[in-house]
Amino acid sequence: TSTTVTLNTGAEMPVVGLGTWKSAPGQVEAAVEYALKEAGYKHIDTATAYDNERAVGQGIKASGVPRESFFLTTKLNNNDHERVQEALEYSLEQLDTPYIDLWLMHWPAPMIDPSQGTPDKRLDWLDTWKRMEEVYEKNRDKVRAIGVSNFSVPYLNRLLKVAKVVPAVNQIELHPSLPQQEVVDRSAKAGIVVTSYSPLGSDRSPLLTDPTILKVAKKYDVEPAAILISFQAIQPNRTVLPKSVTPARIKSNVNLVDLTPEEVQEIKNISKTSVFRVCAPQWTGWG
Ligand code: A2P
Repeated sequence: TSTTVTLNTGAEMPVVGLGTWKSAPGQVEAAVEYALKEAGYKHIDTATAYDNERAVGQGIKASGVPRESFFLTTKLNNNDHERVQEALEYSLEQLDTPYIDLWLMHWPAPMIDPSQGTPDKRLDWLDTWKRMEEVYEKNRDKVRAIGVSNFSVPYLNRLLKVAKVVPAVNQIELHPSLPQQEVVDRSAKAGIVVTSYSPLGSDRSPLLTDPTILKVAKKYDVEPAAILISFQAIQPNRTVLPKSVTPARIKSNVNLVDLTPEEVQEIKNISKTSVFRVCAPQWTGWG
């Protein structure tokens, strides 16, 4: 929890953060409080789309941990591409914080109604990035870094051709059954840190009972989840966001191990026989 990677802004981003996608407001407040106060987390990830920013903010308050001592990320919602400054103010107000460390474009997909997935065809996400750059330049006191999420290689290429600010981070779904090596490589080439979401494979993941994962977990006497999180954390320029609302898991998920190169290779081999993607929306060509 104390190890960090350096962003292209010079800021340090802790390698392991608490994920909160699907963490209900009623549970996430206690989860955030526990993570910060008891489990030593220094990094919390949320999004306007998760509908839990207010509860996350309450968890932060309840922890009593000073704001400067941890890293906080939130994301621009798909229906806010035209009101970028307002969306930032809304997130700050919901989180009850003076600033966020990282603000991501959640998807390169402007929408009229995110709950229905209705695309807003009038808008181009590239213009949204330009608005985010502008808001970032004018509000450094409120946003310390900007980045993207769910960007595949063609999207990154289009962005990087015109970007004045290179994204600090690309947050994507990454686990042994979805290595996305080409996105990882393209991001690395541009100096963009890659953050893994759904590192366990999300709910009811087959990875938690994968024979290779079980074997390695047994060797180190840790939970299978700790192997999957370690597998991300060990990669260069990688940060990882295990999600849990269960205190015992929040705690054990930061109990990381140093995998050998042979074990890393064995875990990489999982994608030869088991491939799945949790988030595959059609509107970004990932359907
Ligand atoms: P819960 O939040 O109820 O504890 P991911 O991070 O890949 O999105 O996975 C999140 C899912 O994995 C949630 O269902 C979460 O359940 C579960 N989970 C989190 N930590 C562990 C763990 N250590 N062992 C088993 N399941 C876990």
